[in-house]
Amino acid sequence: MSRYADRVKGIEPFRVVEVLTQAREMEASGIDVVHMEAGEPDFATVGPIIERAKTALDEGATYYTSALGLPELREKVAGFYKRQYGLDIPAQRILITPGASGALLMMAALLVNPGEGMLMTDPGYPCNRNFLRLVGGEGQLVPVGVEDRYQLTAAIAEKHWQPNTVGALVASPANPTGEILRRNELEDLYALVKAKNGTLVVDEIYHGLTYGEETPSILEITDDVFVINSFSKYFGMTGWRLGWMVVPEDAVPELERLAQNVFISMSTMGQYGALAGFEEEALAILDQRRDIFHRRRDYLVPALREIGFGIPHMPDGALYVYASIEKFSSDSEAFCKEMLEVHHVAITPGVDFGTYKANTHVRFAYTTSMDQLKKGVARLKKALA
Ligand SMILES: Cc1ncc(COP(=O)(O)O)c(C=O)c1O
Repeated sequence: MSRYADRVKGIEPFRVVEVLTQAREMEASGIDVVHMEAGEPDFATVGPIIERAKTALDEGATYYTSALGLPELREKVAGFYKRQYGLDIPAQRILITPGASGALLMMAALLVNPGEGMLMTDPGYPCNRNFLRLVGGEGQLVPVGVEDRYQLTAAIAEKHWQPNTVGALVASPANPTGEILRRNELEDLYALVKAKNGTLVVDEIYHGLTYGEETPSILEITDDVFVINSFSKYFGMTGWRLGWMVVPEDAVPELERLAQNVFISMSTMGQYGALAGFEEEALAILDQRRDIFHRRRDYLVPALREIGFGIPHMPDGALYVYASIEKFSSDSEAFCKEMLEVHHVAITPGVDFGTYKANTHVRFAYTTSMDQLKKGVARLKKALA
């Protein structure tokens, strides 16, 4: 008999963290490892954000804020929707959260009763199903392939909708595939979810990191939706643990009570720092960084294709390339282990993101410099020749 509750037993480790740990251990013993595993921007948080946080600390910003977040920050996020999408989103519908992770947990608690489930893609962000598990629900994993650009289309959602399904959780751009839902796809998915009396949740954490293709927000289509976003990726603030949610008006009091109880408040100095992220000086640097990711993607995808990795569609955004290793292996974990231990290139096995064709896929993250990417590609080329 275990002292610990059943709900934590089936939670799998986030393997990318294990790859990262092993890669770091190898580096500590003097081995030069090329990192293509980490799902976070390799740039430190921009200066203006850090300076603003320091000033806030000097001025005594060390107390709790409202559970909904600093009012000025909610206003800034509202202004960002105006600037980026031309949308008028009232700040009252915007909640600051402890990362997208905190937002996803609250979303699960708000929308899912024990025994209910939400559709999500396989491959997909692995933590999502565990947020549902914590509230007694289930992630209903829907296999999606390259023919649908790994996204949950309305037709696929309809096919997999179950009697206990209460909604769909999608990400655009997605992790691990970088693929987006186009405007018509978002419209159709929303219409389907509505027809099923369900709720649509769209994780837009990689918005701002897309490289050409138009990437609409679901908020351009409807207000009847839960949007998850974060300061982690485009704003480069992973360690600050700040995100946000945009929700229908009637959900705000429910989430406020939940947030008061579960979190009380987010990091106060972090929220003051984040204010500076919306100023032109910071946005200019962030856009330059986005352009760097763009160039890295444009280098990496053809280079990997040339070696023999299968990447039928150029990923639209995020920080990742999800590639088939069919030519080389049918065991993604063993493949990644060999690439790391023998060839000193760290990548993430597909099994981290689900089960569907997971053993024949790996994820590359272009969260390292162009020189490092070139070095990694050269090593892979030699290894797989
Ligand atoms: C799709 C997706 N959603 C949510 C998160 C969680 O991000 P955070 O809690 O840092 O905002 C991540 C992190 O990689 C992600 O890839």
